[in-house]
Amino acid sequence: MTGKVFLIGAGPGDPELMTMKAVRLLQSADVVVYDRLVSDEIVAMSPKDAKMIFVGKSSHHHPVPQEEINAILVREAKAGHNVARLKGGDPLIFGRGSEEAADLAAEGVKSEYVPGITAAQGAAAITGVPLTHRDLATGVEYVTGHRARDEMLDLDWKRLADPMTTLVVYMGVANIGQIAEGLIGEGMDPTTPVFAISRATTPDERRLVTSLEHVAQDAREAGLKPPTLFIIGQVVSLYESEQAEPERISAHG
Ligand SMILES: C[S@@+](CC[C@H](N)C(=O)[O-])C[C@H]1O[C@@H](n2cnc3c(N)ncnc32)[C@H](O)[C@@H]1O
Repeated sequence: MTGKVFLIGAGPGDPELMTMKAVRLLQSADVVVYDRLVSDEIVAMSPKDAKMIFVGKSSHHHPVPQEEINAILVREAKAGHNVARLKGGDPLIFGRGSEEAADLAAEGVKSEYVPGITAAQGAAAITGVPLTHRDLATGVEYVTGHRARDEMLDLDWKRLADPMTTLVVYMGVANIGQIAEGLIGEGMDPTTPVFAISRATTPDERRLVTSLEHVAQDAREAGLKPPTLFIIGQVVSLYESEQAEPERISAHG
């Protein structure tokens, strides 16, 4: 009998931010297929006898092409296994979850999404920077700072430069200079505060508070690397660096 593939959002890193459903399905999986963004602590929660398949990839280095990942999922499900396909954050936010589900459906394999806390939500909660605020931001927009096959970014800068909308940039490390220029070029205040956070909710988390005009240089000098999220907007002014460290369990003690 063909197994089922669960496209599971593993959240931003802290295992306690996974849903109970995600943990239950992970712990009953025959096969676990996981991304580079899934934290070691979460991978370690897999059943001891599960077959573990790492399909991590980075923006310029694609060890496992998407077509091959899809083929692995189909192969394992058709072998009768229940597969936990673990993805960082939420599978439907810059996660290609829907592409995998469509491929599985085309092969007659059933799949199910399990939502996860996306990086923006994790970052907001851990830093106390709200993504919306009655006085500072009437909306929030998630955009990608990276185009497939290294094409130039083609974002609607005019619309994105709205000072009452918080902008959250995923995958933006390489292009943050171009993004800042595009926004300033459409009239966004160069002093608009920007929050950059790498590996949010993990023991390796790094934070940087800067401004739109300085973000490219500051991020470069700080050596920020993916996964990093940029939060751009007046809501960042509410950040209090002295806030207490959040409670979290950690394999690192
Ligand atoms: C391919 S996207 C996956 C997004 C994921 N599906 C989500 O919902 O968070 C990868 C990007 O997500 C962001 N990201 C994911 N996890 C993160 C974390 N723990 N801290 C900061 N940014 C993160 C980074 O911008 C990274 O380059």
